[in-house]
Amino acid sequence: MRILFVTSEIYPLVKTGGLADVSGALPAALRSQGADIRILVPGYPGILSRLNDAAECAILPEGRLLSGSMPDTGVPVFALEHRDYYWREGNPYLNGQGFDWPDNAARFGLLSKTAAHLASKHSPMEWKPDIVHCNDWQSGLAPAFMHFSETQAKSLMTIHNIAFQGNFSPDWVARLGLPESSFTMHGVEFHGHLSFLKAGLHYSNAITTVSPSYAREIQTHEMGCGMEGLLSWRKNEVHGILNGIDLAEWNPANDRHLAANYDAARLDAKIEVKRALQKRLGLEQNDHAPLLGVVSRLTYQKGLDLIDGCASGIFGQGAQLAVLGSGDHEFEREFLRLAENHPGKCAVSIGYDEALAHQIMAGADIFLMPSRFEPCGLNQMYGMRYGTPPVVRKTGGLADSVEDNETGFVFESASVDALLEAIGRAISCYRDNTAFRRIQKNGMDRDFGWGSSASAYLDLYESLLT
Ligand code: ADP
Ligand code: GLC
Repeated sequence: MRILFVTSEIYPLVKTGGLADVSGALPAALRSQGADIRILVPGYPGILSRLNDAAECAILPEGRLLSGSMPDTGVPVFALEHRDYYWREGNPYLNGQGFDWPDNAARFGLLSKTAAHLASKHSPMEWKPDIVHCNDWQSGLAPAFMHFSETQAKSLMTIHNIAFQGNFSPDWVARLGLPESSFTMHGVEFHGHLSFLKAGLHYSNAITTVSPSYAREIQTHEMGCGMEGLLSWRKNEVHGILNGIDLAEWNPANDRHLAANYDAARLDAKIEVKRALQKRLGLEQNDHAPLLGVVSRLTYQKGLDLIDGCASGIFGQGAQLAVLGSGDHEFEREFLRLAENHPGKCAVSIGYDEALAHQIMAGADIFLMPSRFEPCGLNQMYGMRYGTPPVVRKTGGLADSVEDNETGFVFESASVDALLEAIGRAISCYRDNTAFRRIQKNGMDRDFGWGSSASAYLDLYESLLT
């Protein structure tokens, strides 16, 4: 089975969030289960400079295709080179001021169109996919282009976050070469706009999202972001497959970013990582103060304003808080203020820092993830794997991966009181060494690897081909 996996970011080359982690790990897991999978990504500088053995393999109507492989896993990659569209440093979606690049419709329209081209009979490549697996709005137009071209291939649309839809003004329909007839409710149109995600959800042969709970939630008015009608209409083709995590990349037993390594049988060494973290961040050196960690995009989705509201409750219980994140400037300012007002107890690092993310995951005692919605979430799984039980809101993938009082602490309502109650439970548990060790070990013993999820994707691909 030949699969073209289309994505706009991929760890370790270019990452803004969990989609990169999934794109780095899922194709490798599929390949180890026998799939002939290749990844299509835009040729950003971070990709073209770090791909192994990159060489031209085709000249396309727009741009040039290079083929190479991932530096760590060896998974084959097609990088779409287009100097005007992708040859820019920084964030793949945003300019230096934090606004969307003004030509995003053209940039990701071309990514989608290229995926469809490679699956069509006009492709210059001998290798042609049976399945085109699209991820999020950036490749959402591929199923639409496939629908209007001659292809045998089937398409799968995976939603990693339905809040990001890629909605653009209707003139893009013609500019991108889609037929005008596609601009209807039963096509690419969404509230008067061209919607990349809607196009993918309408024209794909099947839809997945990254947890079973989120698959149900996005079919409701409260959480469907306007796509709930279409999704409920296609409900038999909507599947929830929980993400896995990369067990090699996230392994406390040999994590190179940590001051000490540990596993479930040698949990005592975890305290060394906590001490090093307290030192690095300028927190009071105190083994006994429960250290709460946050690593997150700082956005409304992640419910971080609730943490701000819990601050006095957190510090009143003698706990410390370490936050790493970047995103909305207002949240950034709020957290920086919090750190200023609680020196030695609260440390806030604004920015993107892979090493610090690992150090917080391992050095904190408890991980906080009070998301308002969470399609899957990977950090809570990293937390469990690192013996850092998460406090999570019961939503989406958090509800599907964390068990209250078994592997973490779960609360229901998106309110300061509910979060504070759960944090209180976590802190009391932390102070009872035996109880806390049980929760830590339960989490560390769970298998969050990609094995079973990759099999579920393979089964789904098979079903589309038969
Ligand atoms: P989302 O994709 O919604 O941001 P996930 O939990 O699925 O949430 O994935 C987030 C990924 O990004 C994790 O690998 C997390 O460690 C990483 N991450 C988020 N913010 C930062 C940051 N500021 N520095 C380093 N890594 C970060
Ligand atoms: C999105 C979601 C996150 C999910 C990730 C990978 O960024 O917000 O919940 O884990 O995609 O699927």
